[in-house]
Order: sequence, then structure tokens, then C-alpha cells
Amino acid sequence: QILSNPKFAEHGETLAMKGLTLNCLGKKEEAYDLVRRGLRNDLKSHVCWHVYGLLQRSDKKYDEAIKCYRNALKWDKDNLQILRDLSLLQIQMRDLEGYRETRYQLLQLRPAQRASWIGYAIAYHLLEDYEMAAKIIEEFRKTQQTSPDKVDYEYSELLLYQNQVLREAGLHKEALEHLSNYEKQICDKLAVEETRGELLLKLERLDEATEVYRRLLERNPENWSYYHGLEKALKPSTVEERYKIFEEAWEKFPKGLVPRRLPLNFLSEELVVGYETSLKSCRMFNQNDDGKEEPPTTLLWVQYFLAQHYDMIGQQTLALEYINAAIESTPTLIELFLIKAKIYKHAGNIKEAAQWMDEAQALDTADRFINSKCAKYMLKATMIKEAEEMCSKFTRVREIVQSDINEALIKARPSLTVLFVFISLANLSDKELKKLRNKQRRAQKKAQLEEEKKNAEKEKQLKNQKKKKEDDDEEIGGPKEELIPDKLVKVSGRHVNIVFVPVSASHVYCVLLSEKYLLMLQSVKRALAIDPDHPWLHQCLVRFFKGVSESKELPEVVRTVLKQEITRLFGDSNAKSFNQAYLTKHSSSIPHRLAGKWIDLSNTTDTLTDDNHFRIWLKRLHGASGRSLLFMQHI
Ligand SMILES: *[C@@H]1O[C@H](CO)[C@@H](O)[C@H](O)[C@H]1NC(C)=O
Ligand SMILES: *[C@@H]1O[C@H](CO)[C@@H](O)[C@H](O)[C@H]1NC(C)=O
Repeated sequence: QILSNPKFAEHGETLAMKGLTLNCLGKKEEAYDLVRRGLRNDLKSHVCWHVYGLLQRSDKKYDEAIKCYRNALKWDKDNLQILRDLSLLQIQMRDLEGYRETRYQLLQLRPAQRASWIGYAIAYHLLEDYEMAAKIIEEFRKTQQTSPDKVDYEYSELLLYQNQVLREAGLHKEALEHLSNYEKQICDKLAVEETRGELLLKLERLDEATEVYRRLLERNPENWSYYHGLEKALKPSTVEERYKIFEEAWEKFPKGLVPRRLPLNFLSEELVVGYETSLKSCRMFNQNDDGKEEPPTTLLWVQYFLAQHYDMIGQQTLALEYINAAIESTPTLIELFLIKAKIYKHAGNIKEAAQWMDEAQALDTADRFINSKCAKYMLKATMIKEAEEMCSKFTRVREIVQSDINEALIKARPSLTVLFVFISLANLSDKELKKLRNKQRRAQKKAQLEEEKKNAEKEKQLKNQKKKKEDDDEEIGGPKEELIPDKLVKVSGRHVNIVFVPVSASHVYCVLLSEKYLLMLQSVKRALAIDPDHPWLHQCLVRFFKGVSESKELPEVVRTVLKQEITRLFGDSNAKSFNQAYLTKHSSSIPHRLAGKWIDLSNTTDTLTDDNHFRIWLKRLHGASGRSLLFMQHI
């Protein structure tokens, strides 16, 4: 209504608000148009900037949103809502320094609010300045007037938080005093007891800790962490002494399952091995008692259990013996092959593992879980073609891959993924590309023809559409210009033309791999700035070098970029000479030498394709950087 009045048709803030509303209704493009128009009409409005920021935020463009909020604050620097929104984004992006500043402003503006103080304390807590965090909480706590008899949950939680900060600061003695001082006002009595136990252990006051954990067990004999506490307090020196702790517990709590279960973690288990022997010879659990005979499946499951047990404790040879025996008796049970594959995987033989997973898959080709497990194993074993065929057995899997890619292309612009979809597609020969595009056109045409048949009335309209589509196709065209690595590095972060063509699983793999390596390059650069000689980083670097030179799936153009960067950072070196130089440089430090020796240079499999390893690596290197977390989710 406001906008329909000609006087206000271009009113910036109203346009922005309309845009914000439309965004909530899912009309994103219209929303952006309106908000941008509103902003153009009123560049000095904090409302317009704030709204633009909210839109960006809802699109997960956090960096952009932060910029907008900052612009908004230029025009209204004390706006609480914008400051709060900004602080949330800063924490999301792990911009802790920025978060602290914003929280400081909020504290100054609203010193009477609990949230202002806590938010400011949390900023220091996250920056690992525990003493400052504790001080801020203490300042605030002193202003809280509570009588010792009143039940105040928020105050109680504040005390517990303060105690946590003290503990994380390593101030165990102070934390224990704090706990005793305020015990009466903390409502969560269990937390008090558990914290006390933990602190007494840290302070080596073991007799008192023992009492605390015994009390806790009286309260709940099924919490395993209390037994661990008790063990730490009693310090048993032999297995027998250790066992005695649990024996006493289950005499006291006859129904307790945890005290019976936990000793199995450290006792040796002859019992089950005995079952196996006995079941094999006389089909009974125990040869001596003349009980009833067990069905043959009992032996099977005992063997199944033992195989997993030995796999778990790292005795893969024994594990294989048991699982093979089981397979021999029941060659149709899928679970057995799954375990067999797993054992080979844990033993480090991923090719063999993939083969057994394939075997399991063959037993039930309709099982989607096994199918995807199998594909995963194959990818790990770099059997890309086989993995692709495996995936294609479930057409829907293929659809998901395709739509994922499309979605990534739409959402992630401009990002590395887009760039490398582009590159890996560019790597197709002209002929292949043409073939793909023709195929796509034919499919399009076919669909349209069918449509036309069904709906003769709309024929004319459709023709126009078709024409337009073809025009579009001409316009995007294929990537015809030559791909020069230097240029690509510069292009990243800017808009890139996108070609939509069917993408095969091996291409997806290729793209993901490329992106991984480029992310690694970023991580390497950051890590070098922190501690270039760190032993752990060194191992990662060697693997990285090896991966770059040996990973056959990397597109040539990506490899060239990586190699150039490596040469720029480290000079002309390969994994081997780099490692040698490191060993020479640090010949007097054991951790460094260990790192250098431990790397297995002869192993040619690409260790970086191990997802978990990569994730952990990236996480540690980046610390809590939000951007890398985003990237990781993306991967
Ligand atoms: C068991 O104890 C731990 C702390 O020692 C606690 O975090 C956990 O909540 C307890 N679990 C239950 C079910 O009480
Ligand atoms: C890219 O092209 C090179 C050379 O033709 C080839 O060796 C490589 O396998 C191709 N990569 C992809 C992903 O198609």
C-alpha cells in the first residue's frame, strides 16, 4: 500500500522491507532486486544495509553479510540489533577478535544486562584468555545480589560456567575453592559432585576423590565414567587389583551391568575362545556339562564375534581365520563378507577389502547400503571405473550426483568447485564435449517434441522458448580459450562461465580431488606462517608433495598450478629430498627425526584420498576457521 502511493514508490527502506518479506516467502530473486533498488535509493539508511545483510546471511554469504552490517553501523553505530546480528556472524566465521570488539560495544551500551557481560566473557574464553574471562564473570557476579537461600537457576549456571573457566585455565585449586564456596547456591548438585571428583583427582587428593566417586556410584552404579574416576583414585597396580574394584561393585550392586561389562575391556577372554572349541567338537558351550545342544548358528555367531574382537585389538590374522571359518560354513551370509572386507581394510589392504565388499554386494544386489559401501571402498582403492559402475546400479544414486553438482554450481558461485568443474570439463577433448552437448540437445529436443504432441495449443509458445534456449546455448558455448594456470589462479574468486553438461562420477571425483588439493595448498600456506618446522606439518607436507606428483586423477592443469606453488614455497624439491633436508636440519631433535623417519616414502598409494585423515588435518591446521569449516561441509 505504501509503495502504491506514487509519492513513496521509490522509498528505499520500504522497498527493502518488501524485499525482506518476499525473501521469507521464498522469492529470492525478486527480493534481491527490491532490496538492491531500495539501497540505491537510500545509501545512507542503516535499515537498507541491515536488510541487505540479512538477505546475504540467509544465503550463507556470511562475509558479504558482515560487510553490509558494518555499513549499516556506519549510519547508526549504536544499533543494538545490528550489533547483535554482527556478533553472531562473527562467531559463525570464527572472527573472535571482531566478536570481542562487538561484544565490548554491546557491553558499553547495555551494562546492566546479564547477556552483555556473559557475551563479553565468552569472547575472552574463546580467545583462550581464561583469566580475563573469569575476571569479567567475577565482576558481574559481584553485582548480583542473591541471598544464599534463594533458588536462582541462572545465577547457579553462571557459577558453574565460572567454575568451568577456572578449570580450563588450569586453576584447579582455585576452582575447588570456588566450588566449595558457592556449593549451596548451585542447584545442579550432581554437577557439583562430579566436578569435585574431577578436581580432587587433578589435585592428587586421591582419598577424598575415592570417597566422592563411591558416593556417585551409590547414586548411579551404571555410569562408566564413575568407575574410571574410581580407578584413577585407587591406582590399582595389577590386573587383579583392577578387577577387584569391579568385583566389589557388582557384589554391592548385583543388578549392575556396567561393572560386569567394563572388565571385559582389560581382561583376556579365554571364555569365548573356549566356546568356539567346544561348540566345534560337541555343539555345546561346555564339554563337561551335559546340557542341551546348540544349533549350528551359535558357532557361527561366536566366530563372528571373535573375528570382530581380534580385528578390534589389531590381530587381523587371527580375525581372518575366524571369519574364514564362518564363511566356509555359511557362504551366503552378507554380514560375514562385510567383516572380512573391514578386516582387510584395517590391515591396510584396501584393494583386497574392496574385492570382498564386492563379493558381499554380489550376494544382494538390491541392497543399497552395501552398494554404496562397496562404491566407497572402490573409490578408496582408486578403482574409479568400478566405483562408477557400482554407483550406476542404482540409477537414483546417479541422479543425486548429477543434481548435487548442479546445486553446487548454482550455490557455490564463485568458488573453487565451479572453477574446477569447469576445468575438468575443459579437459574433455573437443570431440567428447561436442558429443555430450549433442546428446544433451537431443534429449532436450525429444522432451520438447513430446511436450508438443501433448499440448498442441501451446506449440507456438514452445517454439519461441526453444529458440531462446538455443540462443542461450550459443551464448554460453564451450570453453574455447586456452587454459593457462596463472590465469586460473587469478580467476578463482571471480565469476566463471559455467557449462552444464552431464557429469560422470569420475569427473566428480576429479573435481573433489582437485578442490581438496587446492584447499590443502591454502592450509599449507597458513600452517607455514605458524610453525614451518612442526613435525606433524612436515609429515603432511611430504604426503602433499607425493600426492601432487603421484595422484593420477588430478587434472594436468591443477597439477601444474600446485607444482608451481610448491616450487615457489619450497624451491625445487621432491618429497624425498625435502624429507632428507628436514632430517639433516633437525638431526638433534627426536620428535622431528621421528616425523621424518616415520613417513613411508615407498608407499605409493595416495594417502590423501583418505577422507578422515584429510578432515582431521584440515581441522587442526585451520583451528576453528569458519571458512574452512564451510569448505569442509561443501566437500
Ligand atoms: C556420567 O558421568 C558423567 C561425568 O562424570 C556425566 O557427564 C554424565 O552425564 C553421566 N551420565 C549419566 C547418565 O548420569
Ligand atoms: C585430462 O587430459 C589428460 C591428457 O589428455 C588426461 O591424461 C587426463 O586423464 C584427463 N583428465 C580428465 C579428468 O579427464
